[in-house]
Amino acid sequence: MACSPVTSLMHGKTCVITGANTGIGKAAAESLAALGAHVVIVCRNRERGEQARAAIFKAAQETGHGGEAELRVADLSSQSEVRAVARDILVAHPRIDVLVNNAGVALKRRELTVDGIERTFAVNYLAYFMLANLLLPGLRAAPSARIINVASGAHAGGKLEFDNLQGERRYKNVQMYASSKLEDVMFTYALARRLAGTGITVNTLHPGVVATEIWRQIAILRILSKWFMLSPEKGARTTVYLAASPDVDGVTGKYFDKCQPAKTTTLSHDETLQEKLWATSAALTGLEGGI
Ligand SMILES: NC(=O)c1ccc[n+]([C@@H]2O[C@H](COP(=O)([O-])OP(=O)(O)OC[C@H]3O[C@@H](n4cnc5c(N)ncnc54)[C@H](OP(=O)(O)O)[C@@H]3O)[C@@H](O)[C@H]2O)c1
Repeated sequence: MACSPVTSLMHGKTCVITGANTGIGKAAAESLAALGAHVVIVCRNRERGEQARAAIFKAAQETGHGGEAELRVADLSSQSEVRAVARDILVAHPRIDVLVNNAGVALKRRELTVDGIERTFAVNYLAYFMLANLLLPGLRAAPSARIINVASGAHAGGKLEFDNLQGERRYKNVQMYASSKLEDVMFTYALARRLAGTGITVNTLHPGVVATEIWRQIAILRILSKWFMLSPEKGARTTVYLAASPDVDGVTGKYFDKCQPAKTTTLSHDETLQEKLWATSAALTGLEGGI
């Protein structure tokens, strides 16, 4: 079943969305700003981010619902930059209604971040873990808040090998990407369990197979994307639904595909592994106290 357009207005709501200078994130930010939200986009490049901010603001102006767009610059592969941007956002916005962890990469070769962490793992998963934890004071200040982690149907091909979490022993690029998306799903379930009863919901999703720049390093997918994939606007629909629709008020710990709850793999539901992943992530980021 296809998603129906969300029409509920987002006046007075602050939505933080990462990786929103292009692709699914930018399309989602445009839709949320058009519904009247104050959208804070977190991007790593100031120039591309500013161009996106202007386009998102224009989309908001066209509907006349009072939406705003604000840019924060941070390279989410760097833990110090994640901490700094979270701190700055909380100062400017003590109340956050929606956090969309969306930024992602699909890399051809193994690369390390400034912190010495494999980059796919760092951007696609560890930054989601950090931002959700660090922005919790703002999310708690909202009457009800939503965290949305953009995962993928590719999680089904993911593995959770604690002796090869960062591809240290064996590195296959597509496998690394799939595993990072499995970690997003498992993190969503673990965080939802911790936040049960707080008024903060946490959900995850598959956006569809979408023609975006994510395939820039993987040639075959880049070529196929031109013919077979969804537009970013269609790919953003489930994200916008989870951020804004009253249908999902109070719904937490679920994975959605085409705006419908869907199943994830048996592995993703393993609570022992979810907790081991949490503890490993807390140790890698210094967020030992966690929630
Ligand atoms: N496209 C698909 O078919 C598909 C399918 C399933 C799931 N997804 C997921 O959807 C999400 C969005 O992907 P997309 O397809 O829209 O890809 P995209 O067009 O490549 O957008 C990814 C965004 O993440 C940003 N980003 C990457 N590394 C970053 C970093 N270190 N710091 C800050 N921002 C960073 C990119 O910024 P730059 O422009 O500066 O690189 C870009 O804005 C990802 O989580 C992806 O895994 C996509």
